[in-house]
Amino acid sequence: MSDPLLEVEDLTIRYETDGGDLTAVSGASFSIDDGEFFGLAGESGSGKSTTAKAIIGGLDDNGRVDGGTIRYRGEEIQDFTEKQLNKQLRWKEISWIPQSSMNSLDPLQRVSEQAAEIGRVHTDLSNEAIREKLKEMFAVVGLQESRIDDYPHQFSGGMQQRAIIALALFLEPSLVIADEPTTALDVIMQDQIFKYLDRMKDDAETSLLLITHDISVIFESCDSVAIMHASQIAERGSTEAVHDNPRHPYAFMFKEAFPDIREPDRDLEVIDGYPPELIGEVTACSFADRCPWAVEECRESAPPLDPVGDDDATHAASCFRADEAYELYEKHGATDPAAPEQGDD
Ligand SMILES: Nc1ncnc2c1ncn2[C@@H]1O[C@H](COP(=O)(O)OP(=O)(O)OP(=O)(O)O)[C@@H](O)[C@H]1O
Ligand code: SF4
Ligand SMILES: [Mg+2]
Repeated sequence: MSDPLLEVEDLTIRYETDGGDLTAVSGASFSIDDGEFFGLAGESGSGKSTTAKAIIGGLDDNGRVDGGTIRYRGEEIQDFTEKQLNKQLRWKEISWIPQSSMNSLDPLQRVSEQAAEIGRVHTDLSNEAIREKLKEMFAVVGLQESRIDDYPHQFSGGMQQRAIIALALFLEPSLVIADEPTTALDVIMQDQIFKYLDRMKDDAETSLLLITHDISVIFESCDSVAIMHASQIAERGSTEAVHDNPRHPYAFMFKEAFPDIREPDRDLEVIDGYPPELIGEVTACSFADRCPWAVEECRESAPPLDPVGDDDATHAASCFRADEAYELYEKHGATDPAAPEQGDD
């Protein structure tokens, strides 16, 4: 079998802070194949953007990969230099729509000049061909083609975000990393961009790493999903497996916290409590303080992300009680006042 397009294995990322090292990502593992749409979900601060930044070599200066590997087409890239990243990966292979993309255009250059520079470095295309491609992409994201020669300040915030999406897609990269790409877009525009991505997937096996706190978007548009909680991947697998047969208590609750077109009448879950501080080493399940079924073991070490043994080989959960989680959840419900005391089953 050929290598996955992207393979993240046991990835740990830390930020140096005044209070000590903060572990933003702890032992994360997942892979994305050619033509696969992969969703990364989780509450604010769970480590989603940090994971994306590490893949594209864009960690903040105080951040570092402290363990594990990131392989792209079989090659380890976590230690790539800026030069290697620019030459081999960025734009043409992996493009990135950053979370705060409104500020990521160069204010001093017209959008068409920025596109020309990216095209010159990463392709053999003529200037004219680059302009044509950019115009095409402007139409896809709902911007007038005539505006490719505008400066960023001539666009509204939402239009700047769409211009970034146009730049991220115009060289037809193999992997698009989109970090909360739709927050500033209306529903029609979101739909149009997803349709275009679907076409890229069909025509060119383009892959997508879609980051969002809204798991219902992922359930509608992705093949696979990983749900993060406070630096750890709680659960990972095909969208179907995680949707229909979740094994991690957080995955149940998180999933039930969002409306689902398949179950329009059910009540939305509220997850009590807060994620733990992330300063220092991770020595427990990061969900232990919020989990109705935590036992002593959960506070003694971090549960490994283990396969949960169904038809989907990628389905895995990091919970010591993954085998009984479904029964616990079904029996007691997550917010049922008669739910068990901690440690009781
Ligand atoms: N440069 C930094 N220095 C110190 N801590 C950071 C830095 N960037 C992020 N963090 C911390 O790392 C953790 C993970 O942050 P990250 O931005 O990856 O979360 P996220 O899942 O993308 O959240 P959101 O949904 O709010 O975008 C958080 O605790 C955050 O405060
Ligand atoms: S049962 Fe334990 S390991 Fe599983 S989610 Fe709850 S606290 Fe974490
Ligand atoms: Mg983020």
